[in-house]
Amino acid sequence: MIFHDIDKNHLWHPYTQHKTAEPPICIVRGKGALLWDKAGKEYIDAIASWWVNPFGHANEYLATRIHEQLLTLEHVLFGGFTHTPAIKLAKKLLPLLPDNQQRLFFSDNGSTAVEVAIKMAFQYHLNKGQKKRVLIAFEEAFHGDTFGAMAVSGIGLFTQAFDGNLLNVVRIPIPKKGKEDESIQKLAAALAAKDVAAFIFEPLVQGAAGMQMYAPEALNKLIAVCKSHRVLTIADEVMTGFGKTGKNFACGYLTEQPDIICLSKALTGGTVPMAITSTSEQVFEAFYDDDLNKALFHGHSFTANPTGCVAALASIELLLSAPMQQNIVRINTAHHTFKQTYNSHPKIAELRILGVIMAIELKTEEENSYYGELRNNLYQFFIDNGIILRPIGNVIYILPPYVITNKSLKKIYDTVILAIEKFV
Ligand SMILES: Cc1ncc(COP(=O)(O)O)c(C=O)c1O
Repeated sequence: MIFHDIDKNHLWHPYTQHKTAEPPICIVRGKGALLWDKAGKEYIDAIASWWVNPFGHANEYLATRIHEQLLTLEHVLFGGFTHTPAIKLAKKLLPLLPDNQQRLFFSDNGSTAVEVAIKMAFQYHLNKGQKKRVLIAFEEAFHGDTFGAMAVSGIGLFTQAFDGNLLNVVRIPIPKKGKEDESIQKLAAALAAKDVAAFIFEPLVQGAAGMQMYAPEALNKLIAVCKSHRVLTIADEVMTGFGKTGKNFACGYLTEQPDIICLSKALTGGTVPMAITSTSEQVFEAFYDDDLNKALFHGHSFTANPTGCVAALASIELLLSAPMQQNIVRINTAHHTFKQTYNSHPKIAELRILGVIMAIELKTEEENSYYGELRNNLYQFFIDNGIILRPIGNVIYILPPYVITNKSLKKIYDTVILAIEKFV
């Protein structure tokens, strides 16, 4: 077919070995948690399309607000200019973030939100008279695919081709149950030995590592140690933000406040690419000077795109609405019911839940690589059964759009159990 030939011969898909991959499925339409391909086959989007679509596909409220904005002011440069959507967004978003967050810097995607945070951290210290060269990050972290974001990421598959070309990063284990002390000790050792600018982390859930979870108390301790060394802390809420953990932000579980927070993905409900790096006034003040060189020389053509800002405003309104908050609780309750039934399933090693996220770690004999055989078999089985799930090694995780119906949720749970019986 000509249509597929153009894709095959001219398009380059992400994270894809084109020589061995199956041809991509052409999706033509979506509604709520459902997607349909060219042949009319229905799929449940059980991972909210890489965690960006909590309010469902083809959401009419978002589409209407974006349409109105497109007819009013689709774009204007943000250098030397401002606009109402950005101002309204700041007014709406800042009260939801930890109290210390006072400034928003805009970019286009999760990786650039992280990139900006890293640049802010290095220059913050430089502007205060100290050159710091090192960052601390968790093992198995994922913060994106641009160079700074890649450097702080710890999953080899995504970064090994660039070894030697990346920033200087010290890695510490996440403070999983039983590993809290080791995590703190390694953090303290790194802080004592190196010129550390910042510690970056995915708060409470490491998404791409297979939804690995750890407790807020442990993270509070790590942040407190960094603060006592005047090292900045960066919470990467690109995945966890906007309700996924059951609170608006994972930072809402913390008593310590990070200096910088990265947001993207669900920020605009999957409509317009946009990201925000928010900071405390203390960080901003280090850049506020008569000296031009102390300014943050970073920006993008689409910085604070008004259409993106309106999409974010409308998304936050949806997030805060009573029906959406009820949906989050409903999904969490359904996950817990599943856990009660299957927690001691002989083929399940661990069931982890936070908010709408559920990870099902499978018991397997050998190590399972990120895109290994088990993962590929599971993936294909789910696709054949009309469900989009992308297992990570031996972890199947579900992170559905909040608007998913109970019927679709049940189909996901039933199919997951079928798949475990068949392949594990
Ligand atoms: C925690 C986290 N940070 C950053 C990113 C990168 O975001 P993007 O893919 O929009 O560049 C991701 C993507 O999955 C992520 O999970």
